[in-house]
Amino acid sequence: MDVIEAILTRRSIRKYKSAEVEESKVHMLLEAAFMAPSAGNQQPWHFILVKNRKLLNEIADRHPYAKMLYEAPLAIERYQGRWVLDCSASIENILLAARGLDLGTVWIGIHPDNERIGILRDILHIPADIHPHSLIAVGYPDEEKGKVDRFKPERIHKDLW
Ligand SMILES: Cc1cc2nc3c(=O)[nH]c(=O)nc-3n(C[C@H](O)[C@H](O)[C@H](O)COP(=O)(O)O)c2cc1C
Repeated sequence: MDVIEAILTRRSIRKYKSAEVEESKVHMLLEAAFMAPSAGNQQPWHFILVKNRKLLNEIADRHPYAKMLYEAPLAIERYQGRWVLDCSASIENILLAARGLDLGTVWIGIHPDNERIGILRDILHIPADIHPHSLIAVGYPDEEKGKVDRFKPERIHKDLW
């Protein structure tokens, strides 16, 4: 899929088929994630691939907006060493790469909500010096989402505000 098409058609997918995501596709998502730009090229990220059904259910039980993990075959947990911005760029790379591989994803917010950070630390045994940033649910889509138009010409400023 063309990169512009992937950007314009990516939507949050919260219903998934039961099929596993192939290891080769998971690897491509991670390659995309690691290629993200980062301030000073610090690449401050680590990723946890969560496939264990018990862990996925536990996160869904305790995170108020992660119920899709009851169905998703995979979640990618993103850590932030120092730069929230770097990690966000890397997540967007994963979402777009997944779209290009016919996978559905949704970004599940963790940082800066201290309660959610605590829940993830507890369930995934994340050390105190590592800061959980976000979760991404990944699976084959079991819902169709149309293309939306969010283009707002009034939000575009030329030269000066
Ligand atoms: C930082 C961030 C946190 C988000 N957290 C959640 C979440 O916890 N649960 C969820 O279902 N969607 C979450 N989303 C997805 C947004 O709800 C979604 O992107 C938005 O409604 C636009 O819809 P679209 O992704 O289909 O274009 C999050 C998105 C971002 C960028």
